Amino acid sequence: MRVPVARFHERFRDGSINKAVPHRTPTSGLGSEEVGGIAEGAVVFYTVKGNTQRIAETIAQATQLPAEKLTKEKAVDIAPFNYVFFGAPVYNEHFPKAVLQFGHTGKWGGKKVAIFSTNIGWKDKRAIEEFAQIIAGKGAQVVTSLSIQNRGVLTQVGFGKLTEAEHEKARKWALETQPKLLSSEGLW
Ligand SMILES: Cc1cc2nc3c(=O)[nH]c(=O)nc-3n(C[C@H](O)[C@H](O)[C@H](O)COP(=O)(O)O)c2cc1C
Repeated sequence: MRVPVARFHERFRDGSINKAVPHRTPTSGLGSEEVGGIAEGAVVFYTVKGNTQRIAETIAQATQLPAEKLTKEKAVDIAPFNYVFFGAPVYNEHFPKAVLQFGHTGKWGGKKVAIFSTNIGWKDKRAIEEFAQIIAGKGAQVVTSLSIQNRGVLTQVGFGKLTEAEHEKARKWALETQPKLLSSEGLW
C-alpha cells in the first residue's frame, strides 16, 4: 500500500504537528510509531571500522532520514520503507558476508535503492554491482550508486580517513538522489 506523501504532514501521536519536509519519516527509530502505513525512507549501513557509518550519518543528516546499523547479529527490517540508501564497505573485493546475506534475505521487493560504499578503490565497482544484482534479484530497483574512496593517510592499508571533500561528495549525491527515490515512477 502506498501512503500519500501528504500523510506525513499529519499530526504525530503525541499531538504535535509534523512540520518536517514531506520525505521525513516521523519516527524515532525504524518501524516504530509509523503514522499508519509505510514510512518513506531510511539509511541502512554496515561498517567495520566506522568509515561507512560516518558517510551514512552525513547522508542521514542531509536527507533528514533515520539511520540504522546492520550488524552480523541483527538484520534491519526494511519492510516499512519505500526507499533505502544502503551503504557498505569493500573488504577483500566484496561487500562483507553479513551484507551479502542481508541482500539475499532482506525484504527488497518494490524498494527503490541507492547504494553507497566506502573503500580504497580496488574492485569497488564490481562489489557494488554484485550486491546490486543480488537485491535486484529480490525485487529491488537499484536507482544509482556512489563509491567513496578514503583519501586520507594510510590508504594503502585500508584505514585511510575520510576528508571533508568525501563527506561533501556524499551530501551532494544524497540530495540529488533523494528525489529519484521519492518518485513512484516504475513502482506502481
Ligand atoms: C582487510 C581489508 C581489506 C580491504 N579490502 C578492500 C578491497 O578489496 N577493496 C577496496 O577498495 N578497499 C578495501 N579495503 C578498504 C576498506 O574498504 C575501507 O577502509 C572502508 O572505508 C572500510 O569501511 P568501514 O570503516 O566502514 O569498515 C580493505 C580494508 C581492509 C582493512
